Amino acid sequence: MTLTLTDAPVRSPVAAAPERERVYILQGGARLSGTVRIGGAKNAALPILAATLLTADTCIIENVPDIADIRVMLDLLRHMGAAVEFEPAAGRATIACADIRTRTTPDGLAERFRGSFLVMGPLLARFGQASTARPGGCNIGSRPVDVHSKGFRALGAEVANVDHRFAASGKLRGASILLDVPSHTGTENIIMAAVLAEGLTVIENASIEPEVLDLVDFLRSLGARIAWTSTARQLVIQGVPRLHGTVFRLMPDRLEAGTYLLAGAITRGDVTVDRVVPDHLRSVTAKLAEAGATIEEQAHSVRVVVDRPLTAVDVHTYFYPGFPTDLQQPFTALLTQAAGESIVQETVFEARMTYAYELQRMGADVRVNGSTAVVNGPCRLQGTTVTAHDLRAGAAVMVAALAAEGETLIRAAQTVERGYNGFIDNLCALGAVGRADWLESVPA
Ligand code: EPU
Repeated sequence: MTLTLTDAPVRSPVAAAPERERVYILQGGARLSGTVRIGGAKNAALPILAATLLTADTCIIENVPDIADIRVMLDLLRHMGAAVEFEPAAGRATIACADIRTRTTPDGLAERFRGSFLVMGPLLARFGQASTARPGGCNIGSRPVDVHSKGFRALGAEVANVDHRFAASGKLRGASILLDVPSHTGTENIIMAAVLAEGLTVIENASIEPEVLDLVDFLRSLGARIAWTSTARQLVIQGVPRLHGTVFRLMPDRLEAGTYLLAGAITRGDVTVDRVVPDHLRSVTAKLAEAGATIEEQAHSVRVVVDRPLTAVDVHTYFYPGFPTDLQQPFTALLTQAAGESIVQETVFEARMTYAYELQRMGADVRVNGSTAVVNGPCRLQGTTVTAHDLRAGAAVMVAALAAEGETLIRAAQTVERGYNGFIDNLCALGAVGRADWLESVPA
């Protein structure tokens, strides 16, 4: 099949390589205490912003986090013709996709993050055409998109993949689709493609991560007809001819919340994460309690208190409601301070262990074999220069730095800012000693 781009891609002016490198400097040893207010979830915001392409009406999204990946997604929508207004202080994005002038993402933006591929489903559903570059994002494994492509094909689209670009076109009809793996963004893309398709779509072995269900709630608020069951991991979508505008508030970021709980725990502190859904954090709080932390839940907050030595626990990442792969890295940082041998198994992504070498450089006794890390704690961590190889690897070295002796310089901290708003400021408000800075000339 010949790849046909629906419109010529344009190069984005904001896609230039960064000239300066963000760094964080953290002084270890301070005990964290206090409350941190959690923002909207990045991984719910990305599909929901993409889903505004499904309607010509105005959508108002609240609780939108002011982080780099979201700004790139908003730029991407603007380049495609959406009228976008973002009020970061209010956390409000107002988006009207009445005049979408291209069905193609601009070169230079799509490659910067995984979420860019999420425009494929909505564009295909509304316009019958979509194309984009191979998505970027954290380098944590091969990250294929075959689940997305197979889903689009099952719905009746033709899909081509040539020279790192994907194109899909066709009139969609409901279908029965069994996913090879419950891909998070794959499920989201297929749901968005199916909401305007003629007839009934059934997705089995679907992802039921809370962010996927937040997208479902958003789409329902636009007039989509979707039902789901968690036991069968099944989603049923009855296509409708058109969708309308809405006002919608994003769910809280469980990964941001989990990271602050781990930051509090590693300092033997007393930290409360506010404006969260405690149920979303259950797999993490259960592990923290198993390790010896005290957990208190209120309706919209979770408090962690560590007032005795932590003990080793084993962690096995899994799809929701299992332990989230995104918190595997910072949890391993915590385990460097737990007495005994902990075994951490990463089962979702095949290359999510690179941060362990940074922890080793800080003095941690962590041995990696494939996707398994064996931690022997407690370890005496020493501040040094480390690199945030990916978003959650950055969170891991930040958490470790809080327990290290002396100063840790965290390089490539812009990676952390893709997913955490005001991370260093929030840590400092809880009692950490640190600051953000820039390295003017980036060494090769
Ligand atoms: N997979 C396939 N084929 C596909 C898609 C995925 O084999 O077509 C495999 C992957 O190789 C991986 C597994 O399925 O082994 C899970 O991948 P998934 O597609 O679920 O991940 P994703 O959708 O690319 C989202 C989040 C990630 C999060 C994972 C797992 C977004 C934008 N990203 O990625 O978030 O780790 O789900 O929950 O929603 C992060 O926030 O730091 C982050 C990486």
